[in-house]
Amino acid sequence: MNYRRQYLKDLFQMTPGQTVEAYGWVKTRRDSKGVSFVQLSDGSCFNDFQIVIEAGTIPEETLKQITTGSCVMFGGDLVESPGQGQSVELKATNVTIYGQADPTTYPLQKKGASLEFLREIAHLRVRGNTFGAVMRVRNQAAQAVHNFFDSRGFNWIHTPIITASDAEGAGAMFAVSTLLEAEHGPEGPQFRLKDTDPANDFFGKPAFLTVSGQLNVETHALGLTNCYTFGPTFRAENSHSVRHLSEFWMIEPEMAFCDIHGDMDCAEEFVKEIIQHVLDTCGDDLNFFNQRIEPTLLETLNHVAESPFERITYTDAINMLVSSGENFEFPVEWGSDLQSEHERWITEKKIGRPTIVTDYPKDIKAFYMYRNDDNKTVRAMDVLVPRIGELIGGSQREDRLDVLEARIDELGLPKEAYWWYLDLRKFGSAPHAGFGLGFERLIMYLTGMKNIRDVIPFHRAPGSADF
Ligand code: 4AD
Ligand code: MG
Repeated sequence: MNYRRQYLKDLFQMTPGQTVEAYGWVKTRRDSKGVSFVQLSDGSCFNDFQIVIEAGTIPEETLKQITTGSCVMFGGDLVESPGQGQSVELKATNVTIYGQADPTTYPLQKKGASLEFLREIAHLRVRGNTFGAVMRVRNQAAQAVHNFFDSRGFNWIHTPIITASDAEGAGAMFAVSTLLEAEHGPEGPQFRLKDTDPANDFFGKPAFLTVSGQLNVETHALGLTNCYTFGPTFRAENSHSVRHLSEFWMIEPEMAFCDIHGDMDCAEEFVKEIIQHVLDTCGDDLNFFNQRIEPTLLETLNHVAESPFERITYTDAINMLVSSGENFEFPVEWGSDLQSEHERWITEKKIGRPTIVTDYPKDIKAFYMYRNDDNKTVRAMDVLVPRIGELIGGSQREDRLDVLEARIDELGLPKEAYWWYLDLRKFGSAPHAGFGLGFERLIMYLTGMKNIRDVIPFHRAPGSADF
């Protein structure tokens, strides 16, 4: 069997009169007088391809096996379709059944199954409309990420997943250790702690799954100028929110000879270019999301691609929130972090489009951010978008060795562990800046999906690591 076969999306584009093969999974079969209609999908596009089987062409016994979920190949002639919505259909002359699907137990039987139920069958849900569309959008967005950076001369750096440094200095990390020994029994593995001294552990010191590739990618930006990393990151926060995962993908560009203004420009162009690419390549999928998931989707995506992002300072944001007259759950005062409800009020209600908030108090941001002359704020920038809240977090980096060292000391962070990071400021330091975009939040924004667990193939969250 040749992997370079025609997809169903290609058959839609062909002219009638040709003999073709159509491979896929059966969505539905409908029988009427003397003819059966099969809707076939191979995930290559949103629309199902119609197969027409006239009575007598396929043995009755075989026809019975063509049920929802079964995997088949139809051979036959491409003919003009009298039906609406597609120009061609396949008049079957033969069929190969690769795999049957028992209609009494196939879980994706019913149309309109809840997203919660589909999460429990994440190994099969991609065969349905919604998750097929999510994964196609996810793919195109990822391709657009690499195209964006490649076309601007960035180098893609593969930063490590196992790390000994806490990039955000915030602590919610998964340990990577072989000190916990798994003993396999009939009930599955049980853990036994062999030792508690990190010096005896696999790496000879405490190691973790990375929360961010930023510190590593900074090293390469100060040598290759513009770099980015795009990979999985891990956070052990016990958050059950619809915007947090324990394992998520992050895109982190880092740019030498760049300040917070260049950083914001890059973030804005980046988001816009990805939206435009997905609008250009996933029209049918986006139409579906607009009809079934989020009625404002197309309007907002088109609007975002065209209009400038608002830019305000954290202090402006606090003033807006204080004078809003809104009843927020969390109090608003200068110095405390913006909560999701605050972020959404600003970008959805007050501004009505993506908003970049800059110059946050240093005490609510990470140690590596560039300190402003007021000694109270740092050159941080968060991009907030309607429906999601924080999509991007970034900053200009502290490139002055003495200021960075003082900040690490002030926060009581282990300075020795950051020796190589401090070396970057000791030898040929340069102004530089970057940001991190949570890829799943972007996919939520692009699809209108409301729960981050529904925009990744297999979600990892507190209490769930199935599949
Ligand atoms: O704001 P964060 O924590 O920033 C960083 O990690 C920086 N090191 C980035 C940088 O400057 N290179 O995370 C960046 C983004 C957030 O804006 C959010 O979109 C996403 O990552 N994010 C999450 N997405 C899903 N689940 C989680 N638990 C997330 N935590 C952050
Ligand atoms: Mg953040």
